Amino acid sequence: YIISKLFILGLIMYFLFQPRNPNSPPCVSSWIPWFGAAFQFGKAPLEFLEQARIKHGPVFTVYILGNRLTFVAETEDALELLRTKEADFDEAVMQAIQRTVSISKESFHRNRSRIFKLIVRQLSPSNLHQFSETLWDEFHEHVDHLGKEGTEDLNELVRFVMFPTIMKTLFGKSFGPTNKSRTEEFERHFQNFDDEFEFGSQMPEFFLRKWSKSKTWLLTEFERIVTDIKKEGQLISRTALQAALDAADTAARTTATAIVMRRASWLHSAGAFWTLAFILSHPSIYKNIMEEIVSVYGKAGNKIEVFEDDLRKLPSIKQCILEALRLTSPGVIMRKAMKPIKVQNFVIPPGDLLLVSPYWMHRNPKYFPEPEIFKPFCPGLERWKANLEKNAFLDGYFAFGGGKNRCPGRWFSIMETHMLVVILLYKYQFTLLDPVPKQVTSAGI
Ligand code: HEM
Repeated sequence: YIISKLFILGLIMYFLFQPRNPNSPPCVSSWIPWFGAAFQFGKAPLEFLEQARIKHGPVFTVYILGNRLTFVAETEDALELLRTKEADFDEAVMQAIQRTVSISKESFHRNRSRIFKLIVRQLSPSNLHQFSETLWDEFHEHVDHLGKEGTEDLNELVRFVMFPTIMKTLFGKSFGPTNKSRTEEFERHFQNFDDEFEFGSQMPEFFLRKWSKSKTWLLTEFERIVTDIKKEGQLISRTALQAALDAADTAARTTATAIVMRRASWLHSAGAFWTLAFILSHPSIYKNIMEEIVSVYGKAGNKIEVFEDDLRKLPSIKQCILEALRLTSPGVIMRKAMKPIKVQNFVIPPGDLLLVSPYWMHRNPKYFPEPEIFKPFCPGLERWKANLEKNAFLDGYFAFGGGKNRCPGRWFSIMETHMLVVILLYKYQFTLLDPVPKQVTSAGI
């Protein structure tokens, strides 16, 4: 009994007074062993991180749930970090995935990079035309059901149309929820799973019963989808990706499906929602966009067919999508330090999780003058135009991550959002009844 008490006391003393390497970044810790700053962080992540940044400068470490998370806040440091081999993507996401789905380390490494490369190839700009017809059919099926007029929550409306559309386009027509109540059930579990993913994938499931229940529900559903996909060969393409999935074991297939679905769902419809919300709340931008749409399709309100080629004639909407994502990018970009990494005057020790926040980077006035304002194409400040024609993003733009692990779904996602925005703006004349909500409510973690 005494020994165990001494052990716990020793542990507490260690966490309270552990020696700090003078070269490591300053550390925000707490007196609670293992949990560290989890409670303060969980309550108001953005405020917590902002305070830490003011107090400790642009590189600092937060000790949470047994992990050391090192935040890098300067754009130049982040660009460098995402280029270095010592900052590893797979190692950073593996732990969370492994705790969510049971998959061995070897299977994860073998399958993730293979599936990632295939998605990159399948969803590259030159391949996108093959999805545009299916996307168009799916969008229309949903938008036709919406009727000619009414009052709707914009966020709900976008999700209702977008979620099943992307899933059916990527995973095949027979994908999951076929009616409204099933879709809602799926979305509810997805929301629970997504909301608490960062905590759920680190803590014993006992602490997060709702998360755990939704995870089990979704995994069962994923397994069913994966079995159907295998039967029908419909994931993204019947050829290359199907072959990779066939070669992978069931756990790896389920993991791949879960990763793609997680990435492809909420982030995705949030982007479309914000694009519409920003356009509609800026009357002169709304007017410009409508003139552009009418110049391509004629008087608004009729039924139109939108294909990938048409989208090229509507560049302003693409600029609005990127500008909306700049201001509302959720999530952090995560890597793991495999060797000591020098950032500014500090040396980040191996094992640290490295975090780059698009929220901070996108508000750097050096890269984005007047960063808080939605300015997709005001004269002299054409944030996006030149680079988009070359299918490249601006330096300092991290909405889709960075380096060689940048989001493989980015061009597909922009195309799909572009299409939906055109369809909705052409069909309806919108009036906003409520003010646009505050843009980012959390640190985006
Ligand atoms: C607006 C929509 C989207 C945004 C903002 C977004 C953003 C991101 C970001 C920030 C990353 C991490 C990149 C890094 O660490 O450098 C990522 C990875 C990824 N994204 Fe996207 N994404 C979007 C849509 C999609 C879509 C539609 C797909 C599916 C086709 C997709 C598939 C993936 C995959 C497979 C990964 C790698 C994930 C992993 O291995 O864990 N994303 N995305």
